[in-house]
Amino acid sequence: MCGIVGIAGTRDVAPIIVEALKRLEYRGYDSAGVATLVDGKIERRRAPGKLNNLEAVLRKTPLSGHTGIGHTRWATHGAPTEANAHPHASARVAIVHNGIIENFRELREELTAKGHKFQSETDSETAAHLVTDYMDQGLAPAEAAKKAVARLIGAYSIAMIFKDHEGLLVGARKGPPLAVGYGDTEAYLGSDAFALAPFTNRVAYLLDGDVAVIEGAQASIFDDQGRPANREIKITSASTAMVDKAGHSHFMAKEIHEQPEVISHTLAHYLDPAGPVVRRHGVGLRKTLAKASRLTISACGTAYYAGMVGKYWFEKLGRLAVEIDVASELRYRNPVYPENGAALFVSQSGETADTLAALRDAKAKGQTTIAVVNVAESSIAREADIVLPTYAGPEIGVASTKAFTCQLAALASFAIAAGVARGNLSESDEKTLCASLLETPRHIAEFFKQEPAVKAVAEEIAKARDVLYMGRGASYPLALEGALKLKEISYIHAEGYAAGEMKHGPIALIDEAVPIIVLAPHDVHFEKTISNMQEVMARGGKVLLISDSDGIAKAGKVWAHIEVPKTNAFITPLLYAIPVQLLAYYAAIAKGTDVDQPRNLAKSVTVE
Ligand code: G6P
Repeated sequence: MCGIVGIAGTRDVAPIIVEALKRLEYRGYDSAGVATLVDGKIERRRAPGKLNNLEAVLRKTPLSGHTGIGHTRWATHGAPTEANAHPHASARVAIVHNGIIENFRELREELTAKGHKFQSETDSETAAHLVTDYMDQGLAPAEAAKKAVARLIGAYSIAMIFKDHEGLLVGARKGPPLAVGYGDTEAYLGSDAFALAPFTNRVAYLLDGDVAVIEGAQASIFDDQGRPANREIKITSASTAMVDKAGHSHFMAKEIHEQPEVISHTLAHYLDPAGPVVRRHGVGLRKTLAKASRLTISACGTAYYAGMVGKYWFEKLGRLAVEIDVASELRYRNPVYPENGAALFVSQSGETADTLAALRDAKAKGQTTIAVVNVAESSIAREADIVLPTYAGPEIGVASTKAFTCQLAALASFAIAAGVARGNLSESDEKTLCASLLETPRHIAEFFKQEPAVKAVAEEIAKARDVLYMGRGASYPLALEGALKLKEISYIHAEGYAAGEMKHGPIALIDEAVPIIVLAPHDVHFEKTISNMQEVMARGGKVLLISDSDGIAKAGKVWAHIEVPKTNAFITPLLYAIPVQLLAYYAAIAKGTDVDQPRNLAKSVTVE
């Protein structure tokens, strides 16, 4: 999950490649680099760390040239050093690569035996030498590139330039996305339409196995059999505007505060406030839900926890049997899928490699596939039978916030639809649940009044080495999400537990140095969760209780509490997401970490 760009241009391209890379930095930010043709020769500039380091290098030693490629890296093979930074080059070829070349060791041995000298530890450099080897055997660049990529095993998107071939760019895709952009006098390659938006809105996504050969402004695409292929050129809606922080110190803060608005947008798509009822979009969802023998849910990271909340909702409202697993397990488990089963995949980016592979496996095994996605043009959106979009807008902060609550909004609407379609909910139940859901944005906006109190307690939590979160029912996935959020951006060790599990092990960790964050809405589980909280407090545990006014009054004295508005229990997961996000955010601020681009992580994970 690196970001790649290529430009066959009519002006100096290095500065505009860097601008495009800025729009891809969400894919990785361990190192960056650019290569161009200067008087026919390949010239490179590379730097470890974020793109501003590369910009500093380019200011010191600028790079001319009208044909070029660029890369922002999330390291897989080899540390994020300058030597391992892309582009990788031989004397004749420079390449940028996103993905993993699984057979790189064999290829490297073969090429080393032929005299090729490697300068990095990466799998990607192998591709540069393989292309060179075919060129050394007399093949033209595009033919050498096609022959080389046919030998690569794994997942990749690649862009290449060639010594002495001004205006020639070759791209290849198997797995991670790669788009060709069509300009009037220039042509482009990029990991997504957003990267290319400043140059063109006319974009064609390559399919798996495709190779694109760009000469000047002309692009020819070949399929995996080497036959000329037509790929539909779409007019994308990707915004040219670089998303800004709108006055906030971090994208994450901006995205947390956008939630009332983006949840409203998402709900407006699913619910008709006049009923209120769930809208019918004619995508076959109700039919699928009515006959579904089981729903399998899968996703990664935060999206997985959204799916887990969904499980509670589908079982309760739809009386629908649900099985859930992380995509990296599900795809390799060879799961037993039932007849008439449906499988639901949740993904912000729509590109997560494991989620996409799990979807393909479920589809191949006869499941009707449903995807909740935030990026309409993504691979997962293109491949699912039924797409349920979220309208969170571009999420830049690596730690997912608004995408999560929008996923919950879509899943909640979908669960109500399941309840109605399966005859488990009456018309009046549907109205009550939809009405509660529509109130969520207002309650979240009201909760922001508590932000100074959350900040104060987060500053105390920031002093801890370990933090535990616990919850019951649909608050359990929230406990997991809270712990994930805290560890992702503050680097404090945190774990989430089902409240009832505490006494089966984790309670041994409790002492006065370990804060325990208890998510306890005043719902059917409240009394039980409070008993678990008492067990923890009896052992010296320092409890931060997150509940509504009734819950706080009933629970008695605790170390600290955060008050959340009183609502219908159904929507509490959407509401309780906000304090856990703010706690993580302010703990990270107190620790001085890089909130928007935490170490070792990336926003879009297109490798398994
Ligand atoms: C990465 C991100 C997470 C995200 C997960 C799944 O790990 O850092 O924030 O939850 O991928 O991504 P997806 O785009 O499929 O929701």
